[in-house]
Amino acid sequence: MNIGFELNGKPTILEIEQRETLAEVLRGRCRLTGVKVSCEAQVCGSCTVLVDDLPVSACTFLAYEVRGKRVTTIEGLADESGRLHPLQQAFLDNFAFQCGFCTPGMILAAKSLLDENSNVTDAEIVAHMNGNLCRCTGYLPILKAIRQAATELRGQK
Ligand code: FES
Ligand code: FES
Repeated sequence: MNIGFELNGKPTILEIEQRETLAEVLRGRCRLTGVKVSCEAQVCGSCTVLVDDLPVSACTFLAYEVRGKRVTTIEGLADESGRLHPLQQAFLDNFAFQCGFCTPGMILAAKSLLDENSNVTDAEIVAHMNGNLCRCTGYLPILKAIRQAATELRGQK
């Protein structure tokens, strides 16, 4: 089947199989390998992407469901000049990753929170990020990075 959607700001038409997941299509057909697949069971959050600005687990989300919608992956976050999104920069500044496997999903999940409300408490950040697991960092640097990005985004408003 053919599906049309917006992928990282660009109108996109793809021919896909009905049974393909969004992760399979983004990684295999679009070569967007920032979409990381680990558990394949909607448990770890590493495959998180945004569909109409809301986080979904691409490993279990059927690709045809994005017809007519906007999909954002980590590859779509920097601006046109290549400047990193405040969350990407904050993750770098705070060493909020080690192996980096969870990082694209973490950043996109955090973006959905900060797009909604950049005036968040630590408790709200922790609650929102509950579905994104990290084996490496111990989470504190991730919390600090999201806090830093929230402060910057508040300043931009
Ligand atoms: S790979 Fe999708 S939630 Fe773990
Ligand atoms: S940085 Fe390795 S899983 Fe999070």
